[in-house]
Amino acid sequence: MSTESTFLRAAAVFQSAFHAPPAFIARAPGRVNLLGEHVDYNGGWVLPAAIDRAAYVAAGPGDVDGLVEIEAPDLNARTSFRLDDLDAKRDASGGPLPRWAWYPAGVAWSLRQQGLAVTGLRAALASDVPVGAGLSSSAAVEVAFATAWQHLGGWLVPPLDLARACQRAENQYVGVNSGLMDQFASACGRAGHLLRLDCRTLEWQTAPLPPGVSIVVADTTLRRELGQSEYNTRRAQCEEALRGLRAALHDDSLQALRDVSVADFNQHAHALDPVVARRARHVVEECARTQAALGLLGAGRVADFGALMNACHASLRDLYEVSGPELDALAAAAQPLEGCYGARLTGAGFGGCTVNLVATAAVERFVPALAAAYQAATGLTAEIYVCQAAAGAGVVAA
Ligand code: GLA
Repeated sequence: MSTESTFLRAAAVFQSAFHAPPAFIARAPGRVNLLGEHVDYNGGWVLPAAIDRAAYVAAGPGDVDGLVEIEAPDLNARTSFRLDDLDAKRDASGGPLPRWAWYPAGVAWSLRQQGLAVTGLRAALASDVPVGAGLSSSAAVEVAFATAWQHLGGWLVPPLDLARACQRAENQYVGVNSGLMDQFASACGRAGHLLRLDCRTLEWQTAPLPPGVSIVVADTTLRRELGQSEYNTRRAQCEEALRGLRAALHDDSLQALRDVSVADFNQHAHALDPVVARRARHVVEECARTQAALGLLGAGRVADFGALMNACHASLRDLYEVSGPELDALAAAAQPLEGCYGARLTGAGFGGCTVNLVATAAVERFVPALAAAYQAATGLTAEIYVCQAAAGAGVVAA
């Protein structure tokens, strides 16, 4: 489904639901992550890019003070809730607020906590970021609503602050203990560029995607099931590793696994429970890979960068254990193909997509060859598309 038609769908649904055209449309993209997986909540570095798939919120001021009314045609659903009753997670008629509406309600809750004006709103939400595919569909929805409330409220905060407000919504209102990467990429994306975020200092830069290189997303079409609980388990295991390494290294100043060098880890890993040690080894080595990576791209060493992506996939499969047979088959099918620099699962894992860095000249052959190899290995049909690195969230029509 094209982004253009998603945009038009949001506008048309708004018009038919509220009998008026939307005052404006806010857009916030999904993302891929090229390197730095499962390190954002360990204070590490990430290298995502916003992509040309996005959530669109066609919006206008609410009719009734403090009331938010949302149409969600993708889900064939609608809801309304009151801004003065957000804590209760109730809809305007007193019933439970549907789970999908926790994202916009959480964003309103978080922005209000920050003292930012959040007003009544009418909205139609449509998205072409596939749900549960590891491309940050929920961050896109959060950031699109935050952008809409920013526009309506007439205030302006830096995009990174908007991302943090959305992460707070996800952590404290929705109850998923995610890091900042997804909301950051959605809010701060830049067309044609990768982003690099230091998740401790929150310093970030952009880096142009090298010429002649394309990002290809391949969807296993398998959706996450255990994702959320496994994600929280991984976080807890990282915290346990940190405590163990602090004790083993006699260093209380270690704030996160990002502070542990590969050499120190190798020396002290035996002090940890074996499963916890595997999780921590992934994080420590992934931080080292990500540190090395940007320099490689800047120097045009795309093949070396791609090799780090392949190593990342192996590490997520064997050490962090967040892959699965379909993701492994898709990455393994891509890696030997002509023009493929690197292929790995992207996002949290447990189903979803791989991200492939491919020579633009080879993309036309790569896509059908990958589809055929995946089908042969699994009997499944992958959805494969070339992605553009896109701009971050904004108001696209007013
Ligand atoms: C999910 C989370 C992110 C990040 C990735 C794994 O997408 O939302 O914060 O932890 O998983 O890198």
